[in-house]
Amino acid sequence: MDDDQSLFEALREAGQPIASSCLGVAVCGRCLVRVRSGGECLSAIDAVEKKVLLNERAEPDQRLACQCYVSGAGVVLSTDYW
Ligand code: FES
Repeated sequence: MDDDQSLFEALREAGQPIASSCLGVAVCGRCLVRVRSGGECLSAIDAVEKKVLLNERAEPDQRLACQCYVSGAGVVLSTDYW
């Protein structure tokens, strides 16, 4: 995974299913993933992601894959549709 590649981009590149209708620009909220472990290896939530998470009524362990950047190994995710 490249440092400048979002989790969304990495998942798509790896052929993993990740929902989206905005193609990763933090509009649709469909790329929500649940972070099971390794959250400390994800980039901080910025204002854009926070707004979408609030709109989606996301739970504390959920992030937008299109707004997350991974800085280390060991991140474990799930979604409601995997
Ligand atoms: S892909 Fe639409 S908000 Fe992430």
